Amino acid sequence: MAKGFYVSRVCGICGILLAIAAVAVIIALSVVYSQEKERNDQLLNTPGTTSGTTTSATGTSSSTTSTPSHEPWDNYRLPKSLVPDHYDIRLQPILTKNSIGLYVFYGKSEVFFTCVEETNLVIIHSNKLNFTTPTTAVLKDSEWNDLPVTIVEIKPVTNYLVLHAVNKLEVGKHYSVYTEYVGELADDLAGFYRSEYVEDGETKIIATTQMQAPDARKAFPCFDEPAMKATFSITILHKPDYVALSNMNAIENRTLIQEGEEWTETVFAKTKKMSTYLVAFIVSQFKPVGDPGNGTTTGVQIWGRKKAIEDEQQGAYALSITKPILDFFEEYYQTPYPLPKSDQVAIPDFSAGAMENWGLVTYRETALLYDPAVSSIGNKERVVTVVAHELAHQWFGNLVTIKWWNDLWLNEGFASYVEYLGADKAEPTWNIKDLIVLYDLHRVMAIDALASSHPLTTKEEEVNTPSEISELFDSIAYSKGASVIRMLSVILSEEVFVKGLAAYLKHFEYSNTVYSDLWTHLQAAVDSNVPPLGLPQSVSTIMDRWVLQMGFPVVTIDTATGSITQKHFLLDPESVVTRPSEFNYIWIVPISYSKNNSPGNYWLQTSTEINDAFRTGENEWLLANINVTGYYRVNYDEGNWNKLIAQLGSDHLVIPVINRAQIVDDAFNLARAQHVTTERALETTRFLSGDNEYMPWQAALNSLSYFMQMFDRSEVFGPMKEYLKRQVTPVFEHFKTLSSNFTNRPGPLTDQYSEINAITTACSYGNSDCIEYATNLFNQWRTSNVNGIHPNLRSTVYCTAISEGGEAEWDFLWDKFATSDNAQESDKLRAGLACSREPWILNRFLDYSLDTDKIRRQDAITTISNICNNVIGQSLAWDFVRGKWRTIFTSFGGSSFSFGNLIERVTRRFSSEFELQQLLQFEIDNADVGFGTGTRALQQAKEKTIANMKWVNDNKGSVLKWFEDALITKSI
Ligand SMILES: *[C@@H]1O[C@H](CO)[C@@H](O)[C@H](O)[C@H]1NC(C)=O
Ligand SMILES: *[C@@H]1O[C@H](CO)[C@@H](O)[C@H](O)[C@H]1NC(C)=O
Ligand SMILES: *[C@@H]1O[C@H](CO)[C@@H](O)[C@H](O)[C@H]1NC(C)=O
Ligand SMILES: [Zn+2]
Repeated sequence: MAKGFYVSRVCGICGILLAIAAVAVIIALSVVYSQEKERNDQLLNTPGTTSGTTTSATGTSSSTTSTPSHEPWDNYRLPKSLVPDHYDIRLQPILTKNSIGLYVFYGKSEVFFTCVEETNLVIIHSNKLNFTTPTTAVLKDSEWNDLPVTIVEIKPVTNYLVLHAVNKLEVGKHYSVYTEYVGELADDLAGFYRSEYVEDGETKIIATTQMQAPDARKAFPCFDEPAMKATFSITILHKPDYVALSNMNAIENRTLIQEGEEWTETVFAKTKKMSTYLVAFIVSQFKPVGDPGNGTTTGVQIWGRKKAIEDEQQGAYALSITKPILDFFEEYYQTPYPLPKSDQVAIPDFSAGAMENWGLVTYRETALLYDPAVSSIGNKERVVTVVAHELAHQWFGNLVTIKWWNDLWLNEGFASYVEYLGADKAEPTWNIKDLIVLYDLHRVMAIDALASSHPLTTKEEEVNTPSEISELFDSIAYSKGASVIRMLSVILSEEVFVKGLAAYLKHFEYSNTVYSDLWTHLQAAVDSNVPPLGLPQSVSTIMDRWVLQMGFPVVTIDTATGSITQKHFLLDPESVVTRPSEFNYIWIVPISYSKNNSPGNYWLQTSTEINDAFRTGENEWLLANINVTGYYRVNYDEGNWNKLIAQLGSDHLVIPVINRAQIVDDAFNLARAQHVTTERALETTRFLSGDNEYMPWQAALNSLSYFMQMFDRSEVFGPMKEYLKRQVTPVFEHFKTLSSNFTNRPGPLTDQYSEINAITTACSYGNSDCIEYATNLFNQWRTSNVNGIHPNLRSTVYCTAISEGGEAEWDFLWDKFATSDNAQESDKLRAGLACSREPWILNRFLDYSLDTDKIRRQDAITTISNICNNVIGQSLAWDFVRGKWRTIFTSFGGSSFSFGNLIERVTRRFSSEFELQQLLQFEIDNADVGFGTGTRALQQAKEKTIANMKWVNDNKGSVLKWFEDALITKSI
């Protein structure tokens, strides 16, 4: 699956409007907790629907784990006695309501399996299927004779269908279970589900699937574990004006009449041997663009709503990149694409970002469709990275699959790394590979630096229930996994890495692995090709330190003495690590460094070492972790920090762009952890006035967003605002000239992002040119009624104009919002509306947020959150939430995603005793209503407020003084 939280990438860019704290707050300790939670919740729950999804999909699973299991069907893991070979599945979704108002599907399914251990029990997964077979399920031998069965029973907790055979099944013999059943085609985004959209005034229904992780059992009875690979023959019945898609190509169409109605039966080719979680089928009226393939060439098509695909050509961009990315991965993996076709389908309601079903990849619309007229460059980047991620899985994940979910990190970490390589192939001018440092490495380090983090690996026996499986889909798995695999590929060299990888894929094709199998094949590649750097230890010895231990080290280099040390980095210096490590939190760290630009490499294997290489001369600086290929932070002695900062001030281009971002990000995090002073961190922002690059600026904006939250209502804000305005103005001017007064967009991706950041920052910190420019553009739109604002700049322009304007501007934008039918544009409009500085307008907007005729239910909480970001809106939103707690709780209490998030957003600025008291009072006042799934967020809000009070108390004076002094000293 692709990350559900890709959205925040795009918002990270457009974040910090008008003294509004950025969405991508990386540094604030507790914010990090909540991001993590938000992410988990996004995967579990669906902001887009009204029902709490996984709860219904997975039943009452976790509460029962502690009960001792006596019977085989009490175990969440299947017994090893039976191994599936093949499934024949025939499904008929009915896309109209039945007499009791439900949407259902009918299924007939036969699973063929081999007995490998004598047993009289057939235990197979099934969830929420109502069997209509005369005897629920029929057991047969390989000659199709029915075998006698005493009891057939359903075990709802562990999701099993259990058949007790009279006679023991014999080892080596083949059997099958046949069932007929009805299931609900619910809008729960799990298993076989329903999605709706409106086209030409008509509601259209589609039936689609999301099986990962354990929901194939909601569509057909199956051995629903990734290692239980089998082949599948799928047949779908649908109305003639619909089209059916599945993993494989259709091989046959038949027309048949059922109760006087005409149906089409589409038969798909038998699949390769594959896992149940990768099975997919869709019935829709979607339209394709692309090449369906002809048996010798691989078919590549993009599917979606007719209006999006045919009228607006929104599939054109995805089509243009999909084939090149597939070709790239064929070459990279040295393995041909194993299937005859690859369909990419945009689904109107989708829980994750995308799903790598083999041959039939499904996406959220925003992750596949792109409309140059309204989509920004960030929207485009998302399409190319998500497509690359899912296509990477077609081999790594689908052809070769993890044995069990505990190794999910390998599957997702790997895809999250190589997605950058695939995207780079499709957009070679973007330098997109650099961005992994911002999007994955820096982001996840903020979480992995908490004492409550966890290692990449989990033991197989610790992962059993559906909710335990869901918990694994977190940013440690994706982003730390990606960062650590990237580090390994650099250590080994890309050439050796790819060689070992290809051998691994060849060896395990159509079967399953554990993560150490990859190390084995990489080691073999190392042994036959000495990597350029030489390895101090085996691949597995090095990697064990990174995958079995949580967290990462801070490496401290003293350039006066040449000492180099490592220590487990903890963001909160007072936190206590209770999780033991067999390696005592010592890593084997590859140190690449540059001494006044001459490169070197070193392996740090113990806690403290001394080496002359790290001693520098009087005019030499030393920079470590070049391009941040290593997963660690770096601290230096005072002297070296001063020299690096001086170098940045005199000629920042000498330091690679990724390392300029690193210096800022490391310094702010080191300050937070009290390894360096806050002033030292602020010093690293001085060079930014001369740096037009995106990455260093984005690192600083992420870091400073916490300062904004803490100080935007205090006397610190005046000088802080002046300072940032002064820093950004030269960059703003640079882009203004470069783009002929912002009429053209710069070419490279990061330049476009940097331009957006420059305008956003300049306008929000009061650059009058910027504000004039933005309000002019907005007014041209109002007068001409033609929106000539480039999609990249819309978020900023809307927010600035609304902030500067009054009722007329707001009402104009509201009207555009109310009539918009493009989701990406609606989001930009809705965020802009939250930027007003008029309390009455904001209060009215808060009221609108709970009115489903005005704002879709799925957007209610993000609307309130947007208002919270606005310094004026935040206290209004707090009053609103307190005043309407009962209503809000009743409407949204069931959806943990929105709920925890709301409490986090509305209390984010809290940093005083008075606010803490309000929070405590709120808890008392609403004890009778309760906080539901927001309970944890409320506890965190209290802790966070206390932590903020301490931080503000410790830092306010020095930060104020620093900004005041910075304004006196000349800009560098
Ligand atoms: C199935 O029928 C449709 C519509 O008649 C046709 O376009 C398609 O090619 C057919 N597919 C196969 C595999 O026969
Ligand atoms: C660091 O990254 C830059 C930009 O991606 C690249 O041009 C440069 O070659 C890299 N340096 C090293 C030492 O790999
Ligand atoms: C940009 O605008 C300024 C006035 O604000 C004008 O003097 C200048 O000629 C314009 N440049 C271009 C390239 O349009
Ligand atoms: Zn994935």
